[in-house]
Amino acid sequence: MSPSPDVAVIGLGRVGLPLALAFADAGLSVIGVDNATEHLAAIRAGRMPFDEPGAQAVLDRVGGRLELSERAADAHRARHIVLTLGTPAMSHIEIDLRDIRSVLDDLLPHLHEGHAIHLRSTIAPGTTDFVAGYLAKHRGFAVGSDVFVAHVPERIAAGRFFEEISTLPCIVGGVGERSGEEAGALFAHLRAPIVQTTPVQAELAKIWTNILRYATFALPNLMMMDCEQYDANVFEVVDLINRDYPRGGMRLPGFTAGTCLRKDFAFSEERSNAPGMLLAVSRVNESVPLFLVQGLKRRLGALDGRKVAVLGLAFKAGTDDERDSLSHKLIRLLERELADVAVHDPHVTSPNQSLAEAVQDADAVLMATNHPEFCTPAALELIAQGARPGALVVDPWNCWGAAQVFAHVDEVQALAGGAPGAPAAAAPAGEPEAR
Ligand SMILES: NC(=O)c1ccc[n+]([C@@H]2O[C@H](COP(=O)([O-])OP(=O)(O)OC[C@H]3O[C@@H](n4cnc5c(N)ncnc54)[C@H](O)[C@@H]3O)[C@@H](O)[C@H]2O)c1
Repeated sequence: MSPSPDVAVIGLGRVGLPLALAFADAGLSVIGVDNATEHLAAIRAGRMPFDEPGAQAVLDRVGGRLELSERAADAHRARHIVLTLGTPAMSHIEIDLRDIRSVLDDLLPHLHEGHAIHLRSTIAPGTTDFVAGYLAKHRGFAVGSDVFVAHVPERIAAGRFFEEISTLPCIVGGVGERSGEEAGALFAHLRAPIVQTTPVQAELAKIWTNILRYATFALPNLMMMDCEQYDANVFEVVDLINRDYPRGGMRLPGFTAGTCLRKDFAFSEERSNAPGMLLAVSRVNESVPLFLVQGLKRRLGALDGRKVAVLGLAFKAGTDDERDSLSHKLIRLLERELADVAVHDPHVTSPNQSLAEAVQDADAVLMATNHPEFCTPAALELIAQGARPGALVVDPWNCWGAAQVFAHVDEVQALAGGAPGAPAAAAPAGEPEAR
């Protein structure tokens, strides 16, 4: 245990733990803080509490350089304190800052000149200045010279942390004269290029990175629903838009949710100049499960007593993260139709069945998550063997290249064979993407 670790990371979740490990791997002594005791127990036992490619190997390697604590106040022993706490959105269309406020209150009596607080969480515009003002108000610090406050947003996608941490430009928005410099010096240990800006520009850059993705995927989702209305094929229309067109770029449909995309737009809606525009984007993405259930009913009739296999619980391909996944909404909607729902996901820890069990005698198989394991000829063959003859396959991701959102399993088999994510009968529309 170092008397004064180089850096403290408070909140060892999906963002904080990989970051703490990366700092330790870069040779820094780190104190990691989390108030979830089970979570800490797993890390103390040398076990990653969730899946993040490469993280277990780093944990094995750096164990000794990562001290752990349940108490936020213990973070004051490090000069640099990084906050990676959750920032949900309240139903009032407002950021929920309770975890950040509570940790700041724990730290306040222990802060002294030279401390630097780096906000890594996603925050609404103005939050970094609020934190600086909070320290000035309660402790009388001059922020930027006595103590330092910066926003250093995390833009890495879960599942790609160790691939992107040393390459993705690291945006730094510091308050006052020297906060940006202090934050830049800490994050330079991770070797990514540092881009200095103002706090509010850093905040805007992060939330609009996610808003861009959320809106980008809402367009093909809306178009998929439009296409059903006109009996058109969404994958062919995507291809018509993009093929050899220099200003194309329409993406493919698919469930778009998860803990970040589903809430970060609300941080813009707090003070929007076009209130409702992004809420409409959210409504589009949120209505895809209902669209798929209604599409099933149009083709199969009442779902009461029909077996529907849902493949995938994670919100993102290749991960075990189920937070805010639309799969759960889909399952609830199917259950409200009195369907017999079977679920399979090879990544998550929630109880579920094997693929063979889930699809056995199914009347319909619904691809909720585009996990790579599902998008293989072997998985399609298993579905064809196990499900009822002529079972409906619902694949908004175009996992098998059959380019049909709704099709019978034998049709999917006949049409499959294009590159995954690309219409079989047309030029590729785009790669299947994790959301
Ligand atoms: N998950 C992602 O892919 C991702 C990507 C980019 C940005 N973000 C943003 O990063 C932030 C963190 O996200 P996350 O997914 O890691 O959240 P998370 O819920 O996985 O992690 C937060 C951690 O903070 C801990 N915590 C809460 N209150 C605490 C307290 N008082 N003291 C100590 N620990 C406390 C929780 O136990 C939890 O382990 C959010 O603002 C999120 O929007 C997340």
